[in-house]
Amino acid sequence: MAAMAPGPICVVTGASSGIGEATARRLAREPGAQLVLVARREERLAELARTLGCPTTWVAVDLTDDDGPQRVLEHVEAHHGSLDLLVNNAGSAWRATFAQGGWENVRRTMELNFDSVVRLSEALLPLLRSSAPSAVVNVASTAGRVARGGTGAYSASKSALIGWSDALYAEERPGGVHVGLVLPGFIATEGFPQRELVDRWATRWLVSTPERAAEAILDAGLGRRPERYVPRPYFVAGALRILLPRLVRRAIGGGGAAVLTTRTGADAAEAGAEVGARATEPS
Ligand SMILES: NC(=O)c1ccc[n+]([C@@H]2O[C@H](COP(=O)([O-])OP(=O)(O)OC[C@H]3O[C@@H](n4cnc5c(N)ncnc54)[C@H](OP(=O)(O)O)[C@@H]3O)[C@@H](O)[C@H]2O)c1
Repeated sequence: MAAMAPGPICVVTGASSGIGEATARRLAREPGAQLVLVARREERLAELARTLGCPTTWVAVDLTDDDGPQRVLEHVEAHHGSLDLLVNNAGSAWRATFAQGGWENVRRTMELNFDSVVRLSEALLPLLRSSAPSAVVNVASTAGRVARGGTGAYSASKSALIGWSDALYAEERPGGVHVGLVLPGFIATEGFPQRELVDRWATRWLVSTPERAAEAILDAGLGRRPERYVPRPYFVAGALRILLPRLVRRAIGGGGAAVLTTRTGADAAEAGAEVGARATEPS
């Protein structure tokens, strides 16, 4: 009897909620898959691992910590030995104009959405090369191609990720490490609830699901597609920004476009922390 081909060994960052969790659930259905789940909330990762039905381990780590990438590498080497797919999905957004948030908001956003992706990829690349054919998927955003007021830090981090991914694609292709890029539009998740859009019948259709984003990630990773918008029609936004920049600037500069700068889970957490701090201040 022929030996069964082993399934893919996959690292998914940001697996404790939203798109990362949906991606882990989808990858777990691939024959022979083994998963490594990465995020900060360990209880979420442990519970997800218990329900996936495939060999799954996890690393509870803050990816912005100095030793974060090294801890993931040591875990993968110790428990799995090789690596077929790295999904760089962990990310967040704090909405603020530049006047409100300044450099500090840009710094913390870049640290998570760009620097930590580059640092984890650097740590895992030797393993991906020795396991080739293998793949990296970087989860960017349509916002990396089309910015809106209040999203400057986020758009900058995702723009940087897009440019870096394009270069890495060209550099690693000859050695068999595929680099895929996924650009989600509005996806309703814990971190990006998209309430402002979901609550209005006129804009509800703009919002998609984490499961659809997960399919795009599989397509860009195991399917070795270089680039995937999700939902697919969002490529029109990126194309219009290049072909008709004045039209896009006018549309985005108008007051009606403010609804597209949706409040995030990180914004809500920060507002909650401020209220909590005020409540404990001596009066
Ligand atoms: N939803 C959308 O509309 C949308 C659109 C475009 C792009 N995206 C991108 O898609 C990715 C996933 O977002 P999502 O919508 O699924 O949001 P989400 O539900 O908030 O998930 C974000 C994940 O990142 C993890 N994470 C955050 N900070 C981390 C840190 N310092 N270290 C390790 N893990 C960290 C979170 O886990 P812990 O809190 O447990 O650490 C969580 O698992 C992000 O890169 C986001 O920018 C989302």
